[in-house]
Amino acid sequence: MHKSVYLQTYGCQMNERDSEEVLGMLTAQGYAVVEQPEEADLILLNTCSVREHAEERAFGKMGMLRELKRQKPELVLGILGCMAKAQREEVFRRLPQVDLVAGPAELYDLPMLLAEIESKRRSLVAGRWSLEQDIPSSEKMGTRTLAVGRAFRPLDLKPTGDWRREGVSAFVTIMEGCDKRCAYCIVPFTRGQEVSRPIDEIVAEVRGLVDAGYREVMLLGQNVNSYGKRFPDGNGYKGPGGRQQMLEEGGERLIDFPVLLRRIDAETGVERLRFTTSHPFDAHERLFQAMADCVSTCEQLHLPVQSGSNRMLKAMRRGYTVEEYEAKITRLRELVPEIHLSTDIIIGFPGETDDDFEMTRALMERVAYDSAFIFKYSVRPGTEAAGWIDDVPQETKEARNQELLRRQERASRTKLERWIGGTVEVLIEQRNAKGQLAGRARTSLSVVCDGDDRLIGELVMVRVERVTATTLIGDVV
Ligand code: SAH
Ligand code: SF4
Ligand code: F3S
Repeated sequence: MHKSVYLQTYGCQMNERDSEEVLGMLTAQGYAVVEQPEEADLILLNTCSVREHAEERAFGKMGMLRELKRQKPELVLGILGCMAKAQREEVFRRLPQVDLVAGPAELYDLPMLLAEIESKRRSLVAGRWSLEQDIPSSEKMGTRTLAVGRAFRPLDLKPTGDWRREGVSAFVTIMEGCDKRCAYCIVPFTRGQEVSRPIDEIVAEVRGLVDAGYREVMLLGQNVNSYGKRFPDGNGYKGPGGRQQMLEEGGERLIDFPVLLRRIDAETGVERLRFTTSHPFDAHERLFQAMADCVSTCEQLHLPVQSGSNRMLKAMRRGYTVEEYEAKITRLRELVPEIHLSTDIIIGFPGETDDDFEMTRALMERVAYDSAFIFKYSVRPGTEAAGWIDDVPQETKEARNQELLRRQERASRTKLERWIGGTVEVLIEQRNAKGQLAGRARTSLSVVCDGDDRLIGELVMVRVERVTATTLIGDVV
């Protein structure tokens, strides 16, 4: 029988890529992808747990799905991803109609889990519920399925079928999980231990994407700079034999992130290569040198600092000081002068004083980021920091947040204005809501211009005439 699936994604780019893989697995099984939940036999939410707000959005959506389930009791509801792992009991408690809860490490088990639900359902006595009764809980219906037990994602079970959003830019996940233990962060718990994909597999995937017409690739991982630490076969520079192999090769790591960048650059023909996220602790000279040497690697780095106070960085367990961080930025700017730098900042972490906040403000001013994401600290149950008192009052968090946003807006604008009169290379991606062509510069800045549909998917040169708060506006030359 032909079935249809509706999938909504929350959270980071890794989740977006995971959702593409889910749709790949399901379309390989004959599912059709639909855009409206009302048309689906299977509804999946791929969720995020990084802040409370992200969870509330998914819980809100689930509430809306309850009504659909009432009208169509055979509908299968699944919650996937980080919130499934972090809030499994809460999910079943708040929406007893959910059939499936599966964490990020269980992604590749999905076809098997859905088959399991199907067979549980077939063994039900038909007509045990009626529409007049309460909406049946999955527990009553016998379909409730929970899969959150894996310690990491078994990358050797990666399915071959695929499904990608159309466009000129593609995501490629190079590693899963995170071995860091930042005190505030739920990700190591939800995503599990770090595992890297084999290098030849990644290079071949990028080559395939280039052959299929993609011109830009974004490599994804929670900490791409520790790529190569552990592979699915257990090897890696921290895995069995890894260290020995390094020594035999004169201490040089055989496979790490800079090596991956260089191989993709040399062997695939991709025109633009980006990556995210880089953890400052693992971002070194070797990375900056590779960025400088590789033609395809874009002049863009997201290097989240989180705080400008050493006391806070220590409490957060980030593993670097402000001085070390700034020294890295200085070196990077020497090697890649055009670099567009962005960061993440957490304000209101437990114990953050006015002085700590002032240090963050001053650091942002010194570094002069091109853009910054500012987050109010959100307690994540189960993390180390959840045991500490969330002592910065909500109003203070709000005020500090507003202050940094305002300053960053001004700083970003000043940087943008320097482009006026200059020319940038733009990869045109699509038409925006106003009907203009929209794309990105190598630095990842958004650029809009007028022009023909033929230019979509092409690299063009644009002369910048004016700027808005976030966008360069100009004419094709
Ligand atoms: N692996 C990436 C970050 C992934 S989470 C890295 O280490 O840089 C993305 C961002 O969310 C983090 O950089 C952090 O700024 C923010 N974040 C994570 N946990 C948070 C929490 N509990 N409260 C507020 N912001 C948080
Ligand atoms: Fe979270 Fe830290 Fe890992 Fe980033 S590096 S995902 S902030 S634990
Ligand atoms: Fe969210 Fe999980 Fe990504 S918590 S940010 S979806 S890794």
